Amino acid sequence: MSKTEELQKLREEHVPKGPFNVTPYFAADAKGAVITDVEGREYIDFAGGIGVMNVGHCAPRVVEAIKDQAGRFTHTCFHVMMYESYLELARRMNGLAPGGFAKKTMFVNSGAEAVENAVKIARYATKRFGIIAFEDAFHGRTLLTMTLTSKVKPYKYGFGPYAPDVYRIPYAYCYRCAFGLAYPSCELRCAEYMKEIFHTHITAENVAAVLAEPVLGEGGFVVPPGGWHRKVKQICEENGILYIDDEVQTGFGRTAKMFAIEHFGVEPDIMTTAKSLAGGLPLAGVTGRSEVMEAPHVGGLGGTYGGNPLACRAALAVLETFEKEKLLERAGAIGTRVTDRFTAMQKEHEIIGDVRGVGAMVAMELVKDRATKEPAKDETSALVKKCYEKGLVTISAGTHGNIMRILMPLVITDEQLERGLDILEESLGEI
Ligand SMILES: Cc1ncc(COP(=O)(O)O)c(C=O)c1O
Repeated sequence: MSKTEELQKLREEHVPKGPFNVTPYFAADAKGAVITDVEGREYIDFAGGIGVMNVGHCAPRVVEAIKDQAGRFTHTCFHVMMYESYLELARRMNGLAPGGFAKKTMFVNSGAEAVENAVKIARYATKRFGIIAFEDAFHGRTLLTMTLTSKVKPYKYGFGPYAPDVYRIPYAYCYRCAFGLAYPSCELRCAEYMKEIFHTHITAENVAAVLAEPVLGEGGFVVPPGGWHRKVKQICEENGILYIDDEVQTGFGRTAKMFAIEHFGVEPDIMTTAKSLAGGLPLAGVTGRSEVMEAPHVGGLGGTYGGNPLACRAALAVLETFEKEKLLERAGAIGTRVTDRFTAMQKEHEIIGDVRGVGAMVAMELVKDRATKEPAKDETSALVKKCYEKGLVTISAGTHGNIMRILMPLVITDEQLERGLDILEESLGEI
């Protein structure tokens, strides 16, 4: 029995099937943009542990910071005895987050927990309860964030009833416009639609916040057209509604700006971050306008592990790595190269209906027919499988599971990038 077979047997015996696995392999080692499995086989990583490893596996500064902190203390609980790294990271986040106003930041453990807290804070600050979320959105798997998430299978199916007072409207998904219109002649009908639900679902005076991803992550890297975020924010401002920007997947340089919302000229009232924030350690942040963040009473927010010292030190090292290794510029260069290659592939392969993205957050949407746009879900799964069998780890996305998204570490070398794209192209020819 190979080591992989041995581990697979253990996995089946002792772990439930609910936590899914993209590949049937087991990691032994990972450096930069390459993962080595227990059989010694190498894989180019185009998934980055779902957008977590923007600075690369075992980024030297991150490893050093964790080692140093581990030798000092690993936990006191921020609520019991505070430490400098939490404060320094909050200070850095407040400076980095868009918006020329005073901000405050608190830390939790996961993206879902950050979104939960953002909603709690928005409700407390506005004394309202309604939350408007979008179709094709993904915000997590806890009861509230599962409710806020759009895709039914596998995220919501069987897990109801859901949390109340979440209202949903279409996102600006131009390739599949919910209104059958085309940009720019649509005049952003989908954003305007929010005003209608104030009559049909919930009065604006009861809406605490609009929760939006700046670019859909799990929903398939959908980039809203120019002006959409601004229009949504404007409607929020007119109605005293807070704008929560979920940067969990887009954040930390993926789109060649630190936060994707910077591409759209909007200053969110609250912003959530996680994933690549701490180079693989579980850490998430909620950053927002001081007066909003200060609304909840003492003890109303927190958690045992939130802002763990190892994770805060790792995050400070991530920030240093971004600066020293100019990773925002690198994200731009990677994005240009991937988009060029994907666009060339689209000319050769009928199955690629759409290529889209911003910075290094690029995806291709696979369809059975370019005219009907019928999602090619099975073909996308087959493509993911072909790729990993050839040594490239990728992940799909999209409400219909027909989108191939690219989230490689930004430290990937040119050679690894080309090799990965070659494997993808070769695999496309075989499905
Ligand atoms: C935009 C967005 N929000 C929230 C989450 C949930 O994050 P976590 O899995 O850390 O709970 C994700 C995870 O993919 C995400 O992409």
